[in-house]
Amino acid sequence: MARKHPGFEPKKPHLHKDLKFPEGFLWGTSTSAHQVEGWNEYNDWWEWEHQPGTIADGQMSGRAADHYHKFREDFDIIQSMNNNAHRLSIEWSRINPHKGEFNQRVIDHYIEVLQDLKHRKIKTMVTLHHFTIPIWFAEIGGFEKKENVEYFIKFVDHVVPQLKDYVDFWITINEPNIYTMMSYMLGLWPPGKNNNRLAYRVFNNLASAHKLAYESIHNVYPNNVAQVGIAHNVISFYTYDKHSFSDWLSVKIADWIWNHWFMEKTKVYHDFLGVNYYVHKRVKKIGLRNWGDLALEDRGEGRERTDLAWEIFAPGFFDALVDMSDYNLPIYITENGISTLNDHQRARYLISYLKELYHATKSGVDVRGYFYWSLLDNFEWDKGITSRFGLVEVNYKTLERTVRGSGDLYQIICETNSIPHDLLQFIGHKVSPEDVVKEFKKGHKY
Ligand code: FCB
Repeated sequence: MARKHPGFEPKKPHLHKDLKFPEGFLWGTSTSAHQVEGWNEYNDWWEWEHQPGTIADGQMSGRAADHYHKFREDFDIIQSMNNNAHRLSIEWSRINPHKGEFNQRVIDHYIEVLQDLKHRKIKTMVTLHHFTIPIWFAEIGGFEKKENVEYFIKFVDHVVPQLKDYVDFWITINEPNIYTMMSYMLGLWPPGKNNNRLAYRVFNNLASAHKLAYESIHNVYPNNVAQVGIAHNVISFYTYDKHSFSDWLSVKIADWIWNHWFMEKTKVYHDFLGVNYYVHKRVKKIGLRNWGDLALEDRGEGRERTDLAWEIFAPGFFDALVDMSDYNLPIYITENGISTLNDHQRARYLISYLKELYHATKSGVDVRGYFYWSLLDNFEWDKGITSRFGLVEVNYKTLERTVRGSGDLYQIICETNSIPHDLLQFIGHKVSPEDVVKEFKKGHKY
């Protein structure tokens, strides 16, 4: 007699369990000063933008999203999204516009900003160097010269004691690998150089700057207790052909140069690891001319891509996290997000990447927080303001903010500290995030 396979009868309705994140998980968004504040006239990017041909469509940061003045309005949004953490950067060139001169009014402004977050019970993560440098510092050679590192440390020594009571996590440097590559190998960012020897010098000096800043920050905290790290851009490299030895070797080399080199240089100077994750590459051939060519042939034929042509491949996130867990440090996702004008695509991206993050926590990777890039649409460096990363749309004419459907989804995730089943089933279904949110709220008696 034929026997039914046990469990053959499907239970109706089928319910996945909610994917619960570890207790105390931090949920936030990320921004950087130059990209949202407006009028950062004393930094190298301001000068760079004013030269023709540097930014897509000749756009400039200008008043940007005017976050410098609208921070309270923006933090109201963060609060309504149930975020319990926020990452921002303070602008070195505003605080230290001329050599040896510090502007106390600007420091007081940042104290106000951070106090405002603290009143809302939002944990703060503050970046000290997010790509921009003061013009005076650029003029004396920036990080090209070892002896200039001391000026960055003077800035750190000046601000950290004043801000320390309001900061939970310090990021010394944002993406040393991207900065070195874009500014000194590809010449697409200021100072626009293509010089590998100089680039390696900058990379080394950034490592020294991080180590010295790490020590300085620890010194101002009682008993040396501080949380200091970097925001590290990590790429998941896959072989294009999994049976090819040369593809395998290319991946090994690319992974070491891009993901591990800076970490090896600065080992033991990290209390946590900040991971910025965006890019997945299928490597056919490695190029060592510069790091932009590491995946000389990045072959992702027919794959879905973001508006910046970065391949969308969520499992790469999981692999990158497993790769970085070798350092045995608590991991915070300091950035992850998508540039797209299609908010349904953003919502699907968010849920599918967070699902991988959830699986990473279940596989033993010690991930403790996630900061979506970005809270607001912002000035995306050489790509200008046409690239839209925000959970919140910015109308650049009126500066009006509108929370997108993906922002409402994120609110539910943050509030429940989970990806609830109803949201999970949204992936791959042709429903709008707005409808999913509406249904979810009906069912959950909001
Ligand atoms: C990262 C940068 C951030 C933003 C995102 C899209 O490399 O840290 O400022 O530009 O990419």
